[in-house]
Amino acid sequence: MEPTAKLVSEGPSGLLQSDELYNYVLMTSVYPREAEILKELRDAIANHPQSYFATAPDGGQFIALLLKLLNAKKTIEVGVFTGYSLLLTALTIPQDGKIISIDVDREAYEFGLQFIKKANVEHKIDFVESQALPVLTKLLENTLNNLILLLFCVSAKSESSFDFAFVDADRANLMMQNYHERLLRLVRVGGVIMYDNTLWGGTVALADPSSAHPMRQFAWKDTIEFNKMIAGDPRVDISQVALGDGMTICRRIY
Ligand SMILES: C[S@@+](CC[C@H](N)C(=O)[O-])C[C@H]1O[C@@H](n2cnc3c(N)ncnc32)[C@H](O)[C@@H]1O
Repeated sequence: MEPTAKLVSEGPSGLLQSDELYNYVLMTSVYPREAEILKELRDAIANHPQSYFATAPDGGQFIALLLKLLNAKKTIEVGVFTGYSLLLTALTIPQDGKIISIDVDREAYEFGLQFIKKANVEHKIDFVESQALPVLTKLLENTLNNLILLLFCVSAKSESSFDFAFVDADRANLMMQNYHERLLRLVRVGGVIMYDNTLWGGTVALADPSSAHPMRQFAWKDTIEFNKMIAGDPRVDISQVALGDGMTICRRIY
């Protein structure tokens, strides 16, 4: 079958067949269980020009379930924006859990910080304003030069010490591959790395992206290459989940 532009979805339903079906999922399974403070954050950013950046609540529910299945205590978040997935993670991990969260945009993080404070989970979060890759490198070298070292790395080295990592930034394949190599060393055996946007609005199934939204033409090839790379990586168990914009779950085997 020749792939067509019909495969591409940019509406609120993500990759589902209809908005009605998506609404059904939200109304039945997601909204009734979403923490009030997450709803407040969602409402507060509803009119933000990049509100679509935020992890959708159904994707968030899935992340929270994975965190609980893993008994995750120590996590990494690449791509924070105003912190929906960050707050959700902080609400899910135990009181002494820690999240190292990295974003180049401090302003967006600080907007979400009021909700993090209101939820009394700020003590679990270390925000680093930076490009993510050098921070991951420094974590591996144990050379991250601030309080984070104290919080994360004094009693144990960073290598193989994280339970979970969520990557929701930077689409370029080289970057994603670089993240993958570092995160595979940072996450423990049995730990999980989760990549967002791996179906790229459905465009990964197109033979030619020219019919897709210009935003999707960017990183179209990179996403396809990344998916191929992950599918061929024997170091991880994987599942490509058609949730939101596509999420790939990788469990470190060795
Ligand atoms: C899709 S948003 C993250 C959404 C977030 N997970 C949430 O639930 O609201 C992507 C974020 O990645 C950040 N970003 C993009 N490239 C980056 C990089 N190289 N290093 C760190 N952050 C980056 C952007 O500033 C943006 O805030």
